[in-house]
Amino acid sequence: FLDSGGPAPAVTTDLTYDDVFLVPGRSSVTSRFDVDLATTDGSGATVPVIAANMTAVAGRRMAETLARRGALTVLPQDVDPQAVAGIVTWIKSRHPVWDTPLTLHTDDAVADALNLLPKRAHGTVVVVDDGHRPVGTVDDAACHGVDRFTRLADVLSASPVTMPIDTAPRDVFDALGGHGVALGLDTDGRLTGLLTAIGAVRAGIYDPTLDANGRLRTAAAIGINGDVGTKAKALLDAGVDVLVVDTAHGHQDKMLDALRAVRREVTQSGADVPIVAGNVVTALGVADLADAGADIIKVGVGPGAMCTTRMMTGVGRPQFSAVAECAAAGRDHGVRIWADGGIRHPRDVALALAAGASAAMIGSWLAGTYESPGDLLRDEAGRPYKESFGMASKRAVSARTRGDGDFDRARKSLFEEGISSSRQLLDPARPGVEDVLDAICSGIRSACTYAGARTLAEFHDQAVLGVQTPSGFAEGTPHGL
Ligand code: XMP
Repeated sequence: FLDSGGPAPAVTTDLTYDDVFLVPGRSSVTSRFDVDLATTDGSGATVPVIAANMTAVAGRRMAETLARRGALTVLPQDVDPQAVAGIVTWIKSRHPVWDTPLTLHTDDAVADALNLLPKRAHGTVVVVDDGHRPVGTVDDAACHGVDRFTRLADVLSASPVTMPIDTAPRDVFDALGGHGVALGLDTDGRLTGLLTAIGAVRAGIYDPTLDANGRLRTAAAIGINGDVGTKAKALLDAGVDVLVVDTAHGHQDKMLDALRAVRREVTQSGADVPIVAGNVVTALGVADLADAGADIIKVGVGPGAMCTTRMMTGVGRPQFSAVAECAAAGRDHGVRIWADGGIRHPRDVALALAAGASAAMIGSWLAGTYESPGDLLRDEAGRPYKESFGMASKRAVSARTRGDGDFDRARKSLFEEGISSSRQLLDPARPGVEDVLDAICSGIRSACTYAGARTLAEFHDQAVLGVQTPSGFAEGTPHGL
């Protein structure tokens, strides 16, 4: 690590996730379910996973779905605050256990159902009457072998499984016999939710991220330009639960001013809303952001899948060392750390937590799921994918500067530090964000049992880490297949 003070700067070797591993320790934890994954950073997340504030990742469906499973989504700063307010209101109107159904009417066409089905992992369109009472369901199989203009009345499966919306998830699972979907109805028989058998199982494993009124929580980001205080106030008025002040280089004066402005608004509002700020990668950065009012500091410069910062500038820091140093500094300053970027495997999340992060922020991996905002496309081989792009890419900058003059836009677009278009294939084994979350959480639970930890704080205290060679890493990947 460079010490800029001397004539011949000292250099230390920094590590990233692939360079390190966890050594198993003596454990008295007998079951993975005895491990509590709740964060203690004030974000309210009951699992240590945060969806990144990227346009290709974080929208209303991502926020709703993840909050139900205890994670948190940060809505991007590029969305107009009024639109964010509408999204927050919508998220908070969602049922904390039952999923939001996709609905159409009997006169709608098979083509309409085919457009809607990839929007949610449950794979069901509910056909409702004018009183929003279900008359049947349509799935992907029902839409094949018929003309796209066929009316849904002709392909729907009548007699769906219905039950009161307050039915316990375990009873829903039993009633479904372990597969299929149940429709939840209010006392007037109107459709209010949908629960799959696997959703009922997940409801027994995860605790939703809820606010004081029992509604799903969500976070939203603000940049550091413009009237940051007014933007923060608009988001607070909208009921946002966590505010994220975000810029690529968080250790700069403009960020500190923005952070102080946001802190003033939060204090004035009296709301119990934590402020997250970043990104930084040094103890000095943590100290300054903590001093300016941050509760949680976002760590990561250049590890993200869509980042070109390191290739463009040489600036950044291998993520494991960045997180470890910042977490240690965070303890001294009474703030927590989110490890932002570069997460590709469940092990990376475990290592970020072992390094002292309270949660890991994930972008591109989650972009390739049903719940991300983009349309589901197919590549030449017919495989489903979604488009992802970096928030500092030409594409994102061009969208962000839409109101500026042509010359200004052209000028700003020269300074790109992100990938404008990348295909995120949906993993056939994990096409939904809950499938990804299952993998991550089961990985962390298991890592905790190997370390003998029942909580994430114990995990950080007890984790023993080693440094490995590239061949050591390769040995741990599936091979010989
Ligand atoms: P992953 O690897 O999960 O990382 O996609 C998500 C994080 O990457 C950052 N990010 C960017 N960094 N140029 C960058 O240098 C970009 O265009 C860009 N877009 C996102 C951001 O911190 C995010 O949370």
